[in-house]
Amino acid sequence: MTLLETPRLVLREFTAADAEALFELNSDPRVTRYTDIAGQTPELATIRTVDLPGYRAAYALAPGYGVFAALERETQEFIGWFMLRPFRAAPYFDSGYPFPNDIELGYRLKFSAWGRGLASEGVKGLLHYGFETLRAGAVMALVLTENAASVKVLEKNGLTKLAYGNAALHFYRLERV
Ligand SMILES: CC(C)(COP(=O)(O)OP(=O)(O)OC[C@H]1O[C@@H](n2cnc3c(N)ncnc32)[C@H](O)[C@@H]1OP(=O)(O)O)[C@@H](O)C(=O)NCCC(=O)NCCS
Repeated sequence: MTLLETPRLVLREFTAADAEALFELNSDPRVTRYTDIAGQTPELATIRTVDLPGYRAAYALAPGYGVFAALERETQEFIGWFMLRPFRAAPYFDSGYPFPNDIELGYRLKFSAWGRGLASEGVKGLLHYGFETLRAGAVMALVLTENAASVKVLEKNGLTKLAYGNAALHFYRLERV
């Protein structure tokens, strides 16, 4: 099922057929460097039996939310993913976070797709979807301070840094207007 389209991207639900592409994405240390799976060696079998079934189960539990595969519209090539999910459902949920009902935004693109504004474009589309269709009250994202490209993507889309967080990990947030 397609969630949304932007001028250059299609965001759709993951299927079992995406296992190799997701494995390749998660196997690139340049891509995972600033993520929660940094330093880990992914296994294709785990992606098949745990990760993808988990993504698919989440679509059923909360329609419109989840981790969505991103394809380039023109080529239909898999380039990564974008995510919207209740922050409470994150494995790294922080119980001290002052806005526990926020919706978390995330994204991960393969290295060859970087530097063309695709992350910013996907985030723009997802924010519009989150606020207008899902009627999310606020969207937040966690980012390691060192991840300058990701900070830029968030700031370009209007998210601002909260006082909450620490020197290494920043929380960004945007409320629906
Ligand atoms: C972060 C990520 C999604 C950015 O994707 P992208 O499509 O290249 O991003 P965009 O092109 O939309 O925007 C990146 C911006 O950061 C800038 N940028 C890129 N690398 C930078 C760096 N090292 N320092 C400062 N700015 C940088 C770009 O110039 C661009 O800004 P501009 O539009 O003003 O020129 C991509 O690098 C990625 O998938 N990284 C791995 C996963 C990840 O870290 N996810 C985020 C976890 S919070």
